[in-house]
Amino acid sequence: MTYENLLLTHENNILLVTFNREKALNALNTRTMQELNYLFAEDLPTRKDLKGVVLTGAGDRAFVAGADIKEFLDLDNKGQNMAQYGQDTFFLIERFPKPVIAAVNGFALGGGCELAMACHLRVAGEKARFGQPEVNLGIIPGYGGTQRLTQLIGKSKALEFCMTADMIDAPEAYRLGLVNYVVPAGEEVNMAKSLIEKIGTKGPIAIAKVIESINAYFEDGVDGFAYEIKAFGETTKTADFREGASAFVEKRVANFKGE
Ligand code: COA
Repeated sequence: MTYENLLLTHENNILLVTFNREKALNALNTRTMQELNYLFAEDLPTRKDLKGVVLTGAGDRAFVAGADIKEFLDLDNKGQNMAQYGQDTFFLIERFPKPVIAAVNGFALGGGCELAMACHLRVAGEKARFGQPEVNLGIIPGYGGTQRLTQLIGKSKALEFCMTADMIDAPEAYRLGLVNYVVPAGEEVNMAKSLIEKIGTKGPIAIAKVIESINAYFEDGVDGFAYEIKAFGETTKTADFREGASAFVEKRVANFKGE
């Protein structure tokens, strides 16, 4: 697949994905969702040297201002399929074994806020604004917003957020635990990249198992504690663990190979 709406830039094995529909405030139309799905389902799993992925929006106004409302006009009976595809796509991000970080440089509304929440970490610029304004249109969040918002900020605030459609600024998002960092505008991507560099010095299998195990907490019918025991056992069998423990004893920096 060729990428028309996603701009991909590689640097030091970090992939920067820019949602590139600035005139529509980077709204997620069907084509963009297909490209995002393909990227995480087909393209990135083949890139073994990848350290992690940063998502951001083109321009200085928006990260992603939601699903493309102009495509909603003929949605009718297709709503459920649309939500299913969006959720499947965002699960690919949430379950990706390497860190995926949202660098939120402006509006993160509706599907944009849901996209940021599906990432493992969120860095907000000072101009970032977050909201789930779907009820303004007479619909509800469909890409996992009601669930991940509740996970991240709790039921009370999630209900307020989704029922009032109010936007919040970056400091408030930080206070609520919706974002991990607030940085000066324009510094979002650099901060996200430096987090990926830091995580890249750790054992890659361990990082993948951290992601899996923490996700397991939220999986229906999965005992997260049991999942953690199994994942811990798997990490103790790796060459990375032998290297990490030896490096500690020998007082040197570990050289992890992801094996
Ligand atoms: N879908 C499609 N187009 C969108 C969009 C979306 N979610 N959000 C913004 N745009 C488009 C606007 O239609 C406009 O295009 P136009 O110039 O061709 O008319 C352009 O982006 C700029 O937006 P505009 O509304 O003129 O900017 P603003 O500064 O006045 O307002 C927002 C910015 C983000 C507050 C406003 O665009 C908005 O409320 N967007 C919708 C957010 C939303 O409800 N998202 C959830 C969808 S389920």
